[in-house]
Amino acid sequence: MPALKLVRTLKTENLIWEYWEDQEGKVFVRKRLPDLPSDTAVSILREQGFPEKYLEPIERGTLRSTVPLKGEEVPIEAFEIARKWAKEKFPLSLLLLGSVGTGKTQAVVTAAWWLLKKRKIATARFYSAMELRAAFDKGELQKDIKEVDLLVIDDLGREYRSDYNAYIVEALITTRYDLQKPVCITANITFEEIANRYTPRVLDRLREWAYRRIVKQNFSLRGILQGR
Ligand SMILES: Nc1ncnc2c1ncn2[C@@H]1O[C@H](COP(=O)(O)OP(=O)(O)OP(=O)(O)O)[C@@H](O)[C@H]1O
Ligand SMILES: [Mg+2]
Repeated sequence: MPALKLVRTLKTENLIWEYWEDQEGKVFVRKRLPDLPSDTAVSILREQGFPEKYLEPIERGTLRSTVPLKGEEVPIEAFEIARKWAKEKFPLSLLLLGSVGTGKTQAVVTAAWWLLKKRKIATARFYSAMELRAAFDKGELQKDIKEVDLLVIDDLGREYRSDYNAYIVEALITTRYDLQKPVCITANITFEEIANRYTPRVLDRLREWAYRRIVKQNFSLRGILQGR
């Protein structure tokens, strides 16, 4: 596709008109809605099970993209991965693996907030893996699997290991895959452990349909950011 250059932007009350020009001077017009206000996006997430602890830094504007380590500011890897996913890889799904305290949950909550603000999604729902079974038994999960634009599953593999729980995860992944609706998953376990825990259908689908990244950061942010 030829490179397009934004040559003019017009803002009316409810719409933004963008004029893009290609190399031959041909102009294309794109209409888009203005960003959703930040606090509206936070309120939507709050109603949809996103934990308060991770909404607070967004609301207060205290999110960090780096942490101080041995006198240097080091980028928070999980944060960078989630940002890249939201900006460049979405609507692919995200599978973000990494050890404890590396900022995975904060990163995916922030990515969901950004996607809402940019109107790339209108609805999102957050489940910790341990909540899946109760939601499934109530029938709520089945509805969300089919309907929400983005489903966040935090800490996959933390749920009790049973055939029933494995079946729920498989149903979730295969249904979302069939509908081509993205999931955003964080986990402390490895690809091998995912393969062992669930049927091969799960990892096979995620291989094709998810941006898969392992955080290599070898320290917990909890130790560094606490007590500051
Ligand atoms: N970008 C950030 N800016 C400010 N604080 C952050 C950021 N990312 C993470 N933190 C803080 O660091 C701590 C660890 O982050 P988080 O809970 O997201 O890690 P995690 O990888 O999900 O950990 P676990 O594997 O234990 O679930 C939290 O207290 C969180 O609030
Ligand atoms: Mg977490």
